[in-house]
Amino acid sequence: MKKAIVIILTLAVALLFVMSASAATKVGAEKCKMCHKLQYDSWAASKHAAQNPKVDCETCHGPGSDYSKMSVMKNPAAAKAAGLIMPTMADCAKCHGKGKVPAMTPELFAKVHAHKAK
Ligand code: HEC
Ligand code: HEC
Ligand code: HEC
Repeated sequence: MKKAIVIILTLAVALLFVMSASAATKVGAEKCKMCHKLQYDSWAASKHAAQNPKVDCETCHGPGSDYSKMSVMKNPAAAKAAGLIMPTMADCAKCHGKGKVPAMTPELFAKVHAHKAK
């Protein structure tokens, strides 16, 4: 009996986890701007913002509905558990190096947030 309860609870937790993970949706760059104006402004002037559809904050950092609340964001570990992604060069290669998009290099990677490249 105890074993059955443990199994049911484990399944319930797993289901909740799957549901919350798949329920994350985009909140839009304007929402991120409220707290990250520096990153927003440099992104807004970039080629990523000029694409159609835009390569926006959440294309790279993951959909923000679960991590963009201040209570979650202020804790980097909690934010990552809620879906925040810090992309690596391998993530950039989904687009870079294909078609007309320049191949990814450490130099290009360093320019992803233009305010840091200056
Ligand atoms: C309510 C304010 C708030 C909003 C809205 C918000 N953030 Fe944050 N974010 C923070 C705070 C606070 C930190 C942690 C301290 C810092 O780096 O400024 C942070 C950190 C981050 C980091 C760095 C994490 C790390 O481990 O270094 C990224 C990336 C990030 N936010 C992306 C986003 C994106 C993308 C959005 C929109 C989907 C967003 N944030 C919306 C407040 C916010
Ligand atoms: C093309 C992918 C990409 C886009 C688009 C993007 N970021 Fe980032 N972001 C990164 C990468 C990669 C890093 C880590 C940079 C590093 O390690 O130097 C980062 C770092 C950050 C950080 C940590 C602090 C900092 O300045 O490094 C914050 C906050 C952040 N991004 C917020 C945003 C917000 C807000 C937007 C949209 C307005 C956005 N990002 C758009 C890829 C992206
Ligand atoms: C969804 C597709 C996509 C992803 C993912 C992506 N990029 Fe881009 N990136 C583009 C496109 C499209 C351009 C514009 C290419 C052009 O017209 O020259 C671009 C341009 C850039 C530029 C400006 C190049 C220039 O010549 O001025 C930088 C810097 C850049 N990307 C860095 C990154 C980094 C770093 C990552 C990963 C963290 C990344 N990008 C992820 C599509 C993407």
